[in-house]
Amino acid sequence: MTTNSQVIKCKAAVAWGPGRPLCIEEVEVAPPKAHEVRIKVIATSVCHTDSEYLHQINKALKFRPFPSVLGHEAAGIVESVGPEVGKFSPGDKVIPLFLPQCDECERCKSSKTNHCKKNWANTQMGVLADGTSRISCMGQQVYQFLGVSSFSQYTVVPDTSLAKIRNDAPLDKVFLLGCGVSTGYGAAMNAAKVEKDSACAVFGLGAVGLAAVMGCQAAGARRIIGVDINPDKFDKAKMLGAAECVNPRDHVKPIQEVLVEMTHGGVDYAIECVGSPAVMRAALESTRDAWGVCVIAGWTETEEMNVLVEKLLMGRTLKGTYFGGLKSVRDVPKLVDAYMNKELKLDEFITHRLPLDQINEAFDMLKRGESIRAVISLWPED
Ligand SMILES: NC(=O)c1ccc[n+]([C@@H]2O[C@H](COP(=O)([O-])OP(=O)(O)OC[C@H]3O[C@@H](n4cnc5c(N)ncnc54)[C@H](O)[C@@H]3O)[C@@H](O)[C@H]2O)c1
Ligand SMILES: [Zn+2]
Ligand SMILES: [Zn+2]
Repeated sequence: MTTNSQVIKCKAAVAWGPGRPLCIEEVEVAPPKAHEVRIKVIATSVCHTDSEYLHQINKALKFRPFPSVLGHEAAGIVESVGPEVGKFSPGDKVIPLFLPQCDECERCKSSKTNHCKKNWANTQMGVLADGTSRISCMGQQVYQFLGVSSFSQYTVVPDTSLAKIRNDAPLDKVFLLGCGVSTGYGAAMNAAKVEKDSACAVFGLGAVGLAAVMGCQAAGARRIIGVDINPDKFDKAKMLGAAECVNPRDHVKPIQEVLVEMTHGGVDYAIECVGSPAVMRAALESTRDAWGVCVIAGWTETEEMNVLVEKLLMGRTLKGTYFGGLKSVRDVPKLVDAYMNKELKLDEFITHRLPLDQINEAFDMLKRGESIRAVISLWPED
């Protein structure tokens, strides 16, 4: 049965305002318009960015409108397609993408960047190409977070913000490739371009940092040092490839000095996966003179970072990465293949499973540092 002309009523977790717990509401999801796809979301998770948006709006993150349905790390099944959609059909397994890949713009055609700007201004402000959202609640428009909004049983995304993946992929695992794992893994492989036999430090061992550890290991790093103020993260970091883990709070000296001593001059690559300007500086200063590379994956939109210019003059490189430098539509299905071929770990990142109506608990666990990723099931278990 095709439902592509009907409004779907379903459950979603709505953020009515900054700092307030999400409310489970019945929402209406409009049919997809031209170049849009409506998907049934099967699995999603809370990423640090969702939590920052809810709690740090106007502090670390720029303002985006409320009410909003958050969620941008997810996997689902195509329910219906709008006019002029060529690449997707109902039943396809897909991963929605907060970073598009239109394949037509100057940036998509360049191998230097993954920063496609298709629908950018609109999706950053919570709407799709026509300036409106497809989700409403009690007659009120509900904005779509980063153009995705996966804390809803159904959502509508642009066809350039969607990756089609193989049909045998387990959606309750590969949803991780919609944000955290792809970002961290790509930060090591694409942005830092970690070399064989190098020494690496990863700051912050949440999903993004743990995936960066995994990326450093896949690239053949000789020594990977995990850094976190929460020692509960260390076991998992070691499981994914970190040889040692350091807690800055166990040391009187700044962590960069500790790392420089441990590595006799600094690491070759440092990857920041916290989102703190102070940690970013520490990451840069923990790299080696002459060729050290510091990649920032942690997110902050409004804060500034202090850089001692001499650190750059001595030959270090400082760079940031968005979605791990991946060309989203092209590369996410490849990472799904890598998982299916047992070349990439995902199961290790999943620490909890919760139904949609306990989503606030998933936010709290992430904040308290108790979870890496809690899978949110959008549908009652059979
Ligand atoms: N660049 C991108 O495209 C992109 C994509 C996704 C997420 N992010 C960002 O990446 C960051 C990590 O996301 P996550 O979901 O893994 O978050 P998370 O909250 O699961 O993990 C963050 C980790 O940092 C640790 N930490 C906090 N302060 C620290 C300090 N001073 N020193 C060392 N470690 C410290 C925490 O204990 C925690 O383990 C966030 O800033 C998020 O917004 C960026
Ligand atoms: Zn994210
Ligand atoms: Zn593009």
